Amino acid sequence: MTSVTTEQPLPLAEANSVLLENGPIRIRTLRDTDQDSEFAANIMVDAFERKFIHVTSRRSLPSMRDFYGRSLRGRPPVFYERNFIAEYNGEMAGSCVLRYHGDNALFPDVRDEDFAPVKCTDKCGLLCFALATAEDIPPETCFLDHIGVDSKFRGKGIGKLLLDMADTDARRKGCRMIYLSVATSNRSQRLYERQGYVVKEKKTLCCCGYWCTTGEREFAFMEKNLK
Ligand SMILES: CC(C)(COP(=O)(O)OP(=O)(O)OC[C@H]1O[C@@H](n2cnc3c(N)ncnc32)[C@H](O)[C@@H]1OP(=O)(O)O)[C@@H](O)C(=O)NCCC(=O)NCCS
Repeated sequence: MTSVTTEQPLPLAEANSVLLENGPIRIRTLRDTDQDSEFAANIMVDAFERKFIHVTSRRSLPSMRDFYGRSLRGRPPVFYERNFIAEYNGEMAGSCVLRYHGDNALFPDVRDEDFAPVKCTDKCGLLCFALATAEDIPPETCFLDHIGVDSKFRGKGIGKLLLDMADTDARRKGCRMIYLSVATSNRSQRLYERQGYVVKEKKTLCCCGYWCTTGEREFAFMEKNLK
């Protein structure tokens, strides 16, 4: 396993958008290219496959990849500053997305045209999912929207480094808090605890709450004080 030092100051190489390099792991911002959007969409769908199958169907997974890939193209520059790619020995290995107060006004989560490959019934599932998990992000706060690492690269410290990078990005933007929500059945909660997140509250909603819309019974809201 690669050894990774926590909370190092991250050198910012503005020119090529590389935010952090540590051994074989490199973190950079997402680019508006076919390769990046395809990779990030695949990570999103693979990492959260269970949820996608719940809100749509297994047969719809290819159109979900297409949908997410489209949603990552042709965005304003600030959008690409919120989306990160981790590489391992030069190969794309993981991604994460951060959101800040006011982002909804800067760019919409998805645009109507991104839904082109999605069937009407699947669109309904996706919209319910989005409604159930919508976040109104307070000022001076960063929301870790999602994080995923390709299964063949897991356990190598990439997730941890993405979380370190998220802390640094949030601090640079003047945030005093970073938070996330995670299904309590998800093993990744252990990683967040090691990184200093604590459970603020747990929310359980049965039918037509989280279960109907996400396929999960209970979520933990975890936060980390950045000061
Ligand atoms: C969570 C995840 C991003 C961590 O990335 P990673 O590079 O494997 O993380 P690290 O190597 O830095 O740390 C390992 C920790 O990741 C978590 N992890 C590893 N594999 C995991 C998996 N299949 N599912 C969930 N968490 C996992 C565990 O907490 C693990 O620590 P542990 O061995 O003590 O349980 C990655 O495992 C993943 O993409 N999981 C599936 C998607 C997911 O659950 N995302 C988080 C939703 S909130």
